[in-house]
Amino acid sequence: MRYFSRVKDLGDLQQALQEAEEIKNDRYKYVELGKNKTLLMVFFNSSLRTRLSTQKAAMNLGMNVIVLDVNQGAWKLETERGVVMDGDKSEHLLEAIPVMGCYCDIIGVRSFAGLSDRDYDYAETVFNQFVQYSGRPVFAMETATVHPLQAFADLITIEEHKEVKRPKVVMTWAPHPKALPQAVPNSFAEWMNAADVDFVITHPQGYELDPEFVGNAVVEYDQQKALEGADFVYAKNWSCPGVTNLADYGKVLSKDMSWTVDTEHMSWTNNAHFMHCLPVRRNMIVTDDVIENPRSLVIPEAANREISATVVLKRILQSI
Ligand code: CP
Repeated sequence: MRYFSRVKDLGDLQQALQEAEEIKNDRYKYVELGKNKTLLMVFFNSSLRTRLSTQKAAMNLGMNVIVLDVNQGAWKLETERGVVMDGDKSEHLLEAIPVMGCYCDIIGVRSFAGLSDRDYDYAETVFNQFVQYSGRPVFAMETATVHPLQAFADLITIEEHKEVKRPKVVMTWAPHPKALPQAVPNSFAEWMNAADVDFVITHPQGYELDPEFVGNAVVEYDQQKALEGADFVYAKNWSCPGVTNLADYGKVLSKDMSWTVDTEHMSWTNNAHFMHCLPVRRNMIVTDDVIENPRSLVIPEAANREISATVVLKRILQSI
């Protein structure tokens, strides 16, 4: 595997889950695999979990790690071709990327959506430039439209905590003060569609996700109806994906606090586990008592980021 951004890149998902279990039982099993290999992690945006868990994963595999925060200490990078660079950006990504490739064996990229130009974001312009020009295997540490390491960790967490063979998993939109990308809900939907679960998405009108990610999921606009009988509740905010109205792309259409997941919402479920990728705005997305409840899985999800990243890096190392 040279590139990782979508669920299909892993091939057989059951096999990938077995590898995750193997790594969890002995996370240093492949410590020789990454000897004298260097991972470069490139961050265009802030991160806590991705930064720490991916670095730890590389260390599990015996790799060296370089972390580059593009916006702190590096030259400001122009990302669009054809721009007259007479502003504050000193270097173009088209030179910077192959230079980065000179110093490493694998590159991880974290680059959020701009949320102003839907075509630019959904073309994955920044990530694909790394694929095209770095000469190295590249994996997504959250891109404009996907967050596969998070979705893989979420799936591992569901597998570990499910109490029925085929659980009902509900992803619910929840309010947030700022416009957020669709990367997490897109990937969560994609991965749940590939998993052995009954998957339901609920959100206010106007927040329809791209059909490519919704797939065969049930979309239910009545949040209570959607949550009834749920075994897992995955809360997440996202801004307008611009599917039904392109002009609204990236906008906050609603801050309706009746969508905040509280104890009443959880009472409609089958004693569901609560999930969120973090960071989370308490009492916007979820109330204190729900996130602090023993049924909350937010910390195990974060812990499994190390496992999902170790599996992905192992696969890439085995291919180079
Ligand atoms: N969930 C997640 O990707 O967290 P960070 O943004 O802190 O990396």
